[in-house]
Amino acid sequence: MKIAVIAGDGIGKDVTVEAVKVLESVGKVFGRTIALEHLPWSADHYLKTGETLPANGYQMLREFDAVFVGALGDPRVTDNRHARDILLGSRFELDLYVNYRPVRLLADRLSPLKDRGRKDINFTVFRENTEGVYVSIGGRFKAGTDDEVAIQEEINTYKGVHRIIRHAFEFAQANGHTKVCMADKSNAMQQGHALWQRVFKEVSAQYDGITATHQYIDAMAMFLVKDPGQYQVIVTNNLFGDIITDIGGALQGGLGMAASGNIHPGKTSLFEPVHGSAPPLAGKNVANPIGAILSTALLLETLGARDEAQAVEVAVEAAIAEGRTTTDIGGALGTREVGDFIARKIGV
Ligand SMILES: NC(=O)c1ccc[n+]([C@@H]2O[C@H](COP(=O)([O-])OP(=O)(O)OC[C@H]3O[C@@H](n4cnc5c(N)ncnc54)[C@H](O)[C@@H]3O)[C@@H](O)[C@H]2O)c1
Repeated sequence: MKIAVIAGDGIGKDVTVEAVKVLESVGKVFGRTIALEHLPWSADHYLKTGETLPANGYQMLREFDAVFVGALGDPRVTDNRHARDILLGSRFELDLYVNYRPVRLLADRLSPLKDRGRKDINFTVFRENTEGVYVSIGGRFKAGTDDEVAIQEEINTYKGVHRIIRHAFEFAQANGHTKVCMADKSNAMQQGHALWQRVFKEVSAQYDGITATHQYIDAMAMFLVKDPGQYQVIVTNNLFGDIITDIGGALQGGLGMAASGNIHPGKTSLFEPVHGSAPPLAGKNVANPIGAILSTALLLETLGARDEAQAVEVAVEAAIAEGRTTTDIGGALGTREVGDFIARKIGV
């Protein structure tokens, strides 16, 4: 396996060291060659060189089997240009249309909800990853004046909506799930989200045995807190998926626990923890590395290394069961010590 590693900024660097430790341990235990190539793309690199990524950067990424990213975002880069080029740019240029975000509580004590535990918090969110409001189409007129007009367009295409909804149903079918829920705001956004309604009806009709339901996104935000046990698979657009998976992170015990994949099935895909670069925590050996480490499990699973992925998940569960965690989830260890523990537990 040839994997590009972009540690990025802030705690992205801290958690990436631990994710790499775990991948190296997987390589040793399973006798696999995992070749890691570190790319320096980050705020530091941008501020020093003026380059966010090289002109052939996306082409470089396509040469790898997968890409691992820590996090991008630095207060010194106020327009977030490097993060947009590296992360959003990769999503668009590599056409990583599936944002795969499992939400699985690993221990009852981490639940933020009264009387809800592991059996209630276990579902997968598929967020459309190449369209919506993130395409940055629009403009500002009379910027900086009291007459300013700002337009930000939301793009929904038949192809884009169809492929993410189909992916959610395929995932449900392959994993024995019986329910897929689509969330939109078609009551208020009557053009773009009418397309989501139409495509959801069309695709769901092709999957016998899977119950297709719909919720408006505001209702879903409420139900995710009140009754998360009703969900198995959720599919939604780019913006709504971004927001509800932060709720998902909280349901898992905190943002530091959440993993994600940016996937184009069969092509180079990119894996990253859901959290950002959390500048106040950077370099202090306090960031929780579990979201990053679980992202390596998604990477391994996507590349077909199921036993290896499972071994990573088992090792993470052991760390949680034995309380060998960072303080955000009740432990007393630092980032490095958690990574060491999990790396040692691989295959044990
Ligand atoms: N995918 C990405 O790279 C990504 C995602 C979100 C935000 N960002 C960027 O990150 C920067 C900071 O953004 P933010 O503060 O809104 O979000 P953030 O996820 O970086 O942090 C929010 C809060 O969550 C907690 N947290 C997050 N990750 C944690 C971890 N691993 N361990 C323990 N606690 C953790 C911290 O309390 C932190 O203050 C911004 O520049 C933003 O643009 C990047």
